[in-house]
Amino acid sequence: MKFFIDTANLDQIKEAQELGVLDGVTTNPSLMAKEGITGEKNILNHYIEICNIVNGDVSAEVRSTDYQGMMDEGRKLAALHNQITVKVPCTINGIKAIKTLTNEGIKTNCTLVFSPGQALLAAKAGATYLSPFIGRLDDNSTDGIELIAQIVEMYNYYEFDTQVLAASVRHTMHIIQCAEVGADVITAPLNAIMGLINHPLTDIGLAKFLEDYKKMD
Ligand code: G3P
Repeated sequence: MKFFIDTANLDQIKEAQELGVLDGVTTNPSLMAKEGITGEKNILNHYIEICNIVNGDVSAEVRSTDYQGMMDEGRKLAALHNQITVKVPCTINGIKAIKTLTNEGIKTNCTLVFSPGQALLAAKAGATYLSPFIGRLDDNSTDGIELIAQIVEMYNYYEFDTQVLAASVRHTMHIIQCAEVGADVITAPLNAIMGLINHPLTDIGLAKFLEDYKKMD
């Protein structure tokens, strides 16, 4: 299971990288805007900076909604760095763009996925990654983890190469549940990744061990 961090914040990306378990980064327009990045030149430079911090794939999202615009942007983003994965929304034009980008050897991440039907089309088009948004489904009284399980089963049955990248992960239990149903990748905020380490019995146990060590001085 790969761990991606879902942020455009360079300090958080560095912190996750230093932990030694980071396999990639996902960004989206909202996360980029949160960092106050404006203007095309700064946006493109920011993607390159992220690529220089991590070893794995870095998702950069197109803003066009028409096929040709997605293609032009996708090619430009992919040319920035060999770690760039072009993130494309799950629309009819997006599926067409994923198919062509895939044929050109460009990695893609099909985003804003909320149903098994969308997942099927994205896999048929050859998407490298598929991003179902589990937190946003949970927000709407629908079980996001159940969708991940359905897609994993469907993809395994037909041996699709597309990797299921669980997105809109909000907390540590989402990560555990994604692991239980076989998601290939999770992308999560830093606090959810770091939160996996927390257990009060570890803290209590360590304090006791250190106390007993003192008896041996
Ligand atoms: O990777 C997609 C993710 O950033 C969306 O998360 O919390 O805005 O639903 P959220």
